[in-house]
Amino acid sequence: MSDHYAVFGNPIAHSKSPQIHAAFAAQCAQGLRYDAILAPHDGFAQAITDFVAAGGRGANVTLPFKEEAFRLTKRLTDRARIAGAVNTLTFDDNGMIGDNTDGEGLLRDLTTNLLYSLAGRRILLLGAGGAARGVLAPLLASSPAVLTIANRTPAKALQLAKRFAACGPVHGVAYHELAGQSFDLLINATAASLSGELPPLPAGVFAPGSLAYDMMYGETETPFLTFARQNGAARGHDGLGMLVEQAAESFQIWRGVRPHTLPVIAMLRTAGANRSITAG
Ligand code: ATR
Repeated sequence: MSDHYAVFGNPIAHSKSPQIHAAFAAQCAQGLRYDAILAPHDGFAQAITDFVAAGGRGANVTLPFKEEAFRLTKRLTDRARIAGAVNTLTFDDNGMIGDNTDGEGLLRDLTTNLLYSLAGRRILLLGAGGAARGVLAPLLASSPAVLTIANRTPAKALQLAKRFAACGPVHGVAYHELAGQSFDLLINATAASLSGELPPLPAGVFAPGSLAYDMMYGETETPFLTFARQNGAARGHDGLGMLVEQAAESFQIWRGVRPHTLPVIAMLRTAGANRSITAG
């Protein structure tokens, strides 16, 4: 029987992770099975327990369970501990190990695939949930001029900025405080695109030449990327590249080989099978 992996989320039906890992497995000649599993909002821990009992070897965790996965895991990598969120679980005889490959995935997509250099940039990170936490430390390690976190619930942005203060120049704000400010790189780490919504951004936040990045992806343009295009951003990118890059990092953790990502990103772009906006 081949080794079994899965991604757990809610919603999960539109996840591309099974396709990505199937492509990696074929490319690297690895025999494995990878499914998408819908966990009830109050049943994530039980879903993981059941999966391990059935012989599961590893799992990815997506919205909205990354922080719960962190709380459930006793053995954590440094980057998962710093993020306070887990997106990759590995099961062994001693239980489970939690890691977070989101930050590495975003950084690789921005710097290697999109050839965007982060040093000296003014970065605006939208959202203060698990997705934002996962990318804060690597973004700050890339020497930006400043990193501002804006969140609908401002207290969470302030809390997150405080937590990461030792990593670099970071502060938290409410959306209305962004009026009159502009940024070079704007990253949407909110769940707003999933429900077709747009974080309440003031016009003028996109500096000339700015790059807008939505961690969500879909065949249809996300509301954030539409707003960015209409308000002066020079470039807009969805999170498909990040998704494939974080998956490659998970695959390497589990299987010990690193797949080539560009052909998989290209395959997904041309497949166009998924018309809705999704995450994970
Ligand atoms: P994840 O683990 O993917 O980050 P999460 O922890 O549920 O998911 O966090 C979702 C984030 O999206 C939060 O920052 C949330 O803002 P609040 O903290 O104020 O709830 C943000 N979010 C969700 N819908 C939004 C919307 N319509 N506009 C702006 N922000 C939104």
